[in-house]
Amino acid sequence: MLSAVERKIEQFVADLDDKEVTKLYAKLPYGKRLRAKLILKIAGNSLPVVKTAAVVEMIHAASLLHDDVIDDAGTRRSKPSLNALYGNKTAIMLGDILYSKGFFELNNISADVSRIVSNAVTQLSLGELKDVSLSKSFNLDKNIYLEMIYQKTASLIEASAGAAAILAGKPKDVYMTYGRNLGLAFQMIDDLLDITSDAETLGKPALHDFVEGKTTLPYIYLYEVLNEDEKKILASLHAKVLNEDEQKWIVLKMKEHQIIQRSYFEAKELIDEAIDLMETHGEAALSDIAKEMIERDF
Ligand code: FPP
Ligand code: MG
Repeated sequence: MLSAVERKIEQFVADLDDKEVTKLYAKLPYGKRLRAKLILKIAGNSLPVVKTAAVVEMIHAASLLHDDVIDDAGTRRSKPSLNALYGNKTAIMLGDILYSKGFFELNNISADVSRIVSNAVTQLSLGELKDVSLSKSFNLDKNIYLEMIYQKTASLIEASAGAAAILAGKPKDVYMTYGRNLGLAFQMIDDLLDITSDAETLGKPALHDFVEGKTTLPYIYLYEVLNEDEKKILASLHAKVLNEDEQKWIVLKMKEHQIIQRSYFEAKELIDEAIDLMETHGEAALSDIAKEMIERDF
């Protein structure tokens, strides 16, 4: 039923009656539609549910348009990003249009759904700001990293599950916990893939996060176990373009100390909790979504 969500987004975009926006929207690569999937699996496919899923995906698309400008990303999902194709100004404005139209439509659903989703967008923005600020220094505080990824990524997934639970008359807190865990694990895995995938699979150079100044969980763990001299080396490589030897050194040290496994285990614990929660509530499809997320290749 994801196609109903696609049609609804297309309709919302067509409502704007602007040829340029329709053309630009058509250039956006389809994502996994994880948030819409969760909403439909929790709440079925009535009109308010499909509208909520469409709005959430429009907000998510807007946030990625802005994120690619902020990160100066040339690619998104292995294709040229919209900012690369049409420039930052166009990408920012398409983001604003999708975001504000989404908010307009959100008001026609329900006050509770509107409140939970709009609050998440504030969190999302606070999280992105934190991500930008943190990348200016060599952050080694795991709690700060976790708070940032909660706000930047998990908050909208948590709110999607919560909004769907409201629409379906299911216990909101249970589904929000599920969404939160899924969102945190999703970002942790995304951060791991930045280290373990090759540039081609990733659609951006490997170790890009560290080059950008982002000390994700594996770097925080690695720093903890390195000796004093190695700590200095790692710190000196932060936020700079890495040559091949430097890249190899980081990857080697991560292998030596089983950093990928340790970080993966942390994401897996969150996923296991989400699976248990859904299994006790008889939600097999939702526990399957969680399983699929952790079973990706590393
Ligand atoms: C991707 O992170 C970014 C996000 C999940 C959130 C971005 C949020 C904003 C720009 C603020 C909200 C703005 C609007 C218009 C709603 P990443 O850079 O770690 O992941 P990536 O590898 O997918 O780029
Ligand atoms: Mg980005």
